[in-house]
Amino acid sequence: MKSITTGTVKGNLMAEEKFICPVLQEHYNLLPVSKMKFLNTPEASSLLRSLPVNVKNIFLENFLKGIKGVDATKWGVVYDHFQKNSEIIPALTANPGTYTMLERMYHLYPVTGAIDSYLLGCMAGGQALWNRYNLVTKLSYQLVLSVLKNQKNCLMADFGSGPGRNVIEMIKKIPDKNRVSIDCIDNDSFAIDYGKKLVNMEGISQINFVEKSMFSLRYRRSLDIGQLIGVMCGMSYNQAVSLLKILKHHFKTGGKLLAAVLLDEMPKEDLLCSYTLRETADWNLRFRPLGELKRIFEAAGWKYVSYFQEEPTRFYEIGIGEAI
Ligand SMILES: C[S@@+](CC[C@H](N)C(=O)[O-])C[C@H]1O[C@@H](n2cnc3c(N)ncnc32)[C@H](O)[C@@H]1O
Repeated sequence: MKSITTGTVKGNLMAEEKFICPVLQEHYNLLPVSKMKFLNTPEASSLLRSLPVNVKNIFLENFLKGIKGVDATKWGVVYDHFQKNSEIIPALTANPGTYTMLERMYHLYPVTGAIDSYLLGCMAGGQALWNRYNLVTKLSYQLVLSVLKNQKNCLMADFGSGPGRNVIEMIKKIPDKNRVSIDCIDNDSFAIDYGKKLVNMEGISQINFVEKSMFSLRYRRSLDIGQLIGVMCGMSYNQAVSLLKILKHHFKTGGKLLAAVLLDEMPKEDLLCSYTLRETADWNLRFRPLGELKRIFEAAGWKYVSYFQEEPTRFYEIGIGEAI
């Protein structure tokens, strides 16, 4: 099996250290009694059973009281345990946009150990991400087919593609794939190199990997379709609007962008995972109300065409904007 490599990437859109999403803070503030349900899932029980007693006591006490790691006494014991006994947690700390976590969550690379098995099995981790992966692949397939119905060729870009897993899976299903050209754009050289190996191994010639920031592209209104998945989850409303304004310049009128954001359902349904990610991996996510993606698209000058949610978790709003 190929090993997957990660590293720190400068200018990553998902890194903003001190921030805590107000929605997450609200859930931290809940009474301990209403947090007990998050500990009673099979995945949480198995994680807790795996922790040494002192780590478990500190972790549980602070989770139930809603205390952030940075403010908790002896949190270093918990932090070190999670960093040392997981492959996912230290990789996320080094690079919050790491594709190596998603390789595992998409069931494309094996997980080992109790912490990573917990992340793969829990609702907010592997369950929601696997459901999102399948829905995004299906939606981008439908978008490409609808373009090919009306014109000879289709030009697509996957912004912040990682190794391009969604588009690799999608292109395999397209009957007349030589009419499609897809650029996977990412500023993580490890993800780009890994993606190049994957398409070579699969003999896919329709996908090109471009190591670049998505802020420095020059499509001159030539794109038919774009994809922006797993990128806006750490961005503020204003940052997300600015990004969509910039990306709009690359699309033909009528071109479509498929984009996803994380919803406030995630901490509501799986607070333990949301707490673990922030307090042991320093991973700061934004949890938005359903409908905010529409406001972001519209504020950036797009028409919001429709949205979908991955089933049955419904932790993401996956929307389609049309360049007007
Ligand atoms: C969480 S991953 C999502 C990967 C893929 N879209 C998926 O959903 O499976 C976010 C990706 O965005 C990339 N990224 C972050 N900032 C970027 C930027 N300014 N330009 C290009 N890519 C960027 C990261 O390197 C990372 O691969």
